[in-house]
Amino acid sequence: MKITKICCIGAGYVGGPTMAIIAQKCPHIQVTVVDLNENRIAAWNDEDVTKIPIYEPGLSDIVAESRGRNLFFSTDVETAIDEAELIFISVNTPTKTFGKGKGMAADLKYIELCARQIAKIAKDNKIVVEKSTLPVRTAEAIKSILDHTGNGVQFQILSNPEFLAEGTAVDDLLFPDRILIGGDASKEGVEAIQSLVDVYANWVPQDKILTTNVWSSELSKLTANAFLAQRISSINAMSELCEKTGADVNEVARAIGMDSRIGSKFLKSSVGFGGSCFQKDILNLVYIAKSYGLNEVADYWEQVIVMNDHQKRRFSNKIVQTLYNTVADKKIAFLGWAFKKDTNDTRESAAIYVADDLINEQANITVYDPKVAGDKVFSDLNYLKTRSADSNKERVSVVQDPYEACLNAHAIAVLTEWDEFITYDWNRIYHSMQKPAFVFDGRNVLNRAEMEKIGFVYQSVGS
Ligand code: NAD
Ligand code: UGA
Repeated sequence: MKITKICCIGAGYVGGPTMAIIAQKCPHIQVTVVDLNENRIAAWNDEDVTKIPIYEPGLSDIVAESRGRNLFFSTDVETAIDEAELIFISVNTPTKTFGKGKGMAADLKYIELCARQIAKIAKDNKIVVEKSTLPVRTAEAIKSILDHTGNGVQFQILSNPEFLAEGTAVDDLLFPDRILIGGDASKEGVEAIQSLVDVYANWVPQDKILTTNVWSSELSKLTANAFLAQRISSINAMSELCEKTGADVNEVARAIGMDSRIGSKFLKSSVGFGGSCFQKDILNLVYIAKSYGLNEVADYWEQVIVMNDHQKRRFSNKIVQTLYNTVADKKIAFLGWAFKKDTNDTRESAAIYVADDLINEQANITVYDPKVAGDKVFSDLNYLKTRSADSNKERVSVVQDPYEACLNAHAIAVLTEWDEFITYDWNRIYHSMQKPAFVFDGRNVLNRAEMEKIGFVYQSVGS
């Protein structure tokens, strides 16, 4: 099938950037991104393109280039589904918060809603593409819903997981390591796979487009995230041992990373990984393994999460212990709230959990992040339900200026590795703080020797 119209359900961190690149690289294809969230669609359509809802370096220029030409953002889900030959499902698949599998399994209600809506509206044959990260064998459930419409429409279900990382989404989409497409081996399945291959082939070299069966594709996505997160938990486990033995985790990471079998990427020790996917996807993997009775497999991967939780808690404990075992009514400046640099996303950010621990110790926290809006900080803390929203408001403030954040602070905690932190006037910050002036560098971004020369008591992760 030659694709002329694409619909993407879900205008989030994946749907928005991915479709913007498809539209840019395929001007002959009309791409419509739909979402139930009216505010989000309105923001994607904002005349001032810097106000699009997702901050990603380079994204606003790409949206500006295609929006209104062959890239559209709309709340009219039905029309977009009706017109498209190919439909991406790119909705959220959070961890279940209720019922069977609570706290572990992926909540597939949004996926099922999409399938039912497609089933209701489709009048001609469609290719339905799972872009969201899904448990292995979800395509079976989607197919079952779609095949019971009784209106004779034929559906092909493909799995095409997304591997972009936030903060580098544009580059990851333009120059992907690989595009993975899983589909049926039947004649119709092979044709559907080819239709999607043809879309990507507009900018991705053929040898980087990998085709597999649906189940391998679904499971490869969970496996990739599990392996990536496992590297971080592995180096973080070593960071604690480094702190006890006088080894430096950065030196250890460098030394092992030079072994080409290990490789140097994803070995940065930190306060712990965050983001909307690593924890969710590993918990989902653990749940799937358990549901097949594979308890050793489940326990093995669960340890990655256990280690990550420990690392976050260890960081907040270290702050309390170093500040003479009390942070009550002391001012702690948080530099960074996003889960990594170059994104405004805060989902599962380590900063949230470190702040929660310190508020329990009655610390006062002042947050500065260059891209995160103030109300987000409060909604993240309120979501934990540890205490009332008013109590969070009493203990936390959000400011727009890093120097104000650090003024009179007893300690600074670096929670995100924003580049701008390195360029601050640290002398000025030192002189504006309570003494001794402590810095807890949860991202190992500042230079120990320089910080100590200024007078700071500097502690990083793993050295
Ligand atoms: P998101 O929450 O940013 O966006 C999902 C959007 O889908 C929301 O705007 C929501 O309103 C919309 N939505 C939900 N149900 C809908 C429906 N029935 N009709 C229309 N719109 C609906 O999520 P995201 O970060 O873009 O992630 C989406 C999926 O991609 C998840 O499965 C995630 O695991 C996966 N993924 C995410 C990333 C990432 O970096 N964020 C990377 C790779 C894969
Ligand atoms: C991750 C994967 O890298 C993507 O390939 C995947 O598509 C995506 O999850 C997903 O499925 O959602 P993302 O979470 O956006 O991408 O960002 P990462 O760069 O992986 O960082 C995740 C967390 O790990 C961040 O908190 C980051 O600071 C932390 N991290 C990363 C470290 O602590 N050390 C490292 O060496 C690397």
